[in-house]
Amino acid sequence: MSFYLRKREEERFLEERELKSAVKINVVGIGGCGNNIISTLYRMGIPAKLIAMNTDASVLRRTECHVRVLLGNPFSVSRGACGSPEIGAKAMEESIDEALNAIDEDVDVVIGIAGLGGGTGTGGLPVFFRELGLRKPNVLKIAVITFPLREEGIERRENARVGFQELVEVSDAIIPNANDILVERVRVLSITEAFRIMDRRVARIVDSLVRLQTPKLGPGIVNVDFSNIQKLMFKAGLCFVGVGFERTIYQAFMNALKDDFAYSELRNARGAIVMFEGRELDLDVLQIRRVTRYISEDLGIKEVFMGIRPTYELHEVRVSLLVAGITSKYVDSFIGGEGG
Ligand code: GTP
Repeated sequence: MSFYLRKREEERFLEERELKSAVKINVVGIGGCGNNIISTLYRMGIPAKLIAMNTDASVLRRTECHVRVLLGNPFSVSRGACGSPEIGAKAMEESIDEALNAIDEDVDVVIGIAGLGGGTGTGGLPVFFRELGLRKPNVLKIAVITFPLREEGIERRENARVGFQELVEVSDAIIPNANDILVERVRVLSITEAFRIMDRRVARIVDSLVRLQTPKLGPGIVNVDFSNIQKLMFKAGLCFVGVGFERTIYQAFMNALKDDFAYSELRNARGAIVMFEGRELDLDVLQIRRVTRYISEDLGIKEVFMGIRPTYELHEVRVSLLVAGITSKYVDSFIGGEGG
């Protein structure tokens, strides 16, 4: 074999190995809210398989994604779960084989998105994660969920309460986002506008989770090892993900801390991952040190992993912060029934 041919073979072998070793992430959006966020992610072009599932055929048909799964008995009318989590759960059970077949065989992480409060997402996501856990016990299951607005009424809040408690049993990590906090912070003209802002917020969280777990190569790049992410998020309970932009690293980090839609308590959490991205000149080592010291000393988080990615695609510094094993005052009061 000629020298060049051997080189090409070697190159192909390494490329195949690299592809095989890449972390495989699937994102599943269930119900109306989940489907809308999947469309947002699709338009952003995030590098993960995007799967939409719904009992409502017309919403599903309009969803932009890679794979669609219509849930429920094929002879039913496919017009949604009428706000009933029992119907949503039953529909997922009826279609569980199609739902699980949509997931890649060699998947490492499944991110499930749902707006709690209705029928399809609230009833369907816990069943889907439970069955996924039984068939693929090593897959990391992360739920990114929203809590309904106070204005949506007691029944939806009660649905969300029950659905959340079921999710806790079957997920490794849950990232909560309260619509109530969003409307307190951002002046919105309508509920639809609040939902669109929340869509973008949840999409940003998923994008950060995918970027964290998609290693890149290049000068100056420091990746976070997937085994560390796995260890940190496995059976972690509630987690926080915040993203901040600014001219300096420390300010961007402070903005990431404020990007909180659950009144999160990060102190003494299980662990954290922080990722710094920006132009090489802006990734100042002293500021990076200041941030990691803040996490370990001020927040009392012992296990901290760090990633650095120099890029000319960003005009400002982007800091993404993931904290695993937190508590949330919003979730506590919501589950305690004070949020109704
Ligand atoms: P059914 O309609 O009963 O089949 O259930 P579903 O799971 O499809 O409900 P849906 O996702 O439409 O609504 C559940 C909750 O999600 C609502 O109570 C809202 O709080 C929220 N929600 C609904 N639509 C959207 C949306 O487009 N974006 C966002 N961010 N939240 C939404």
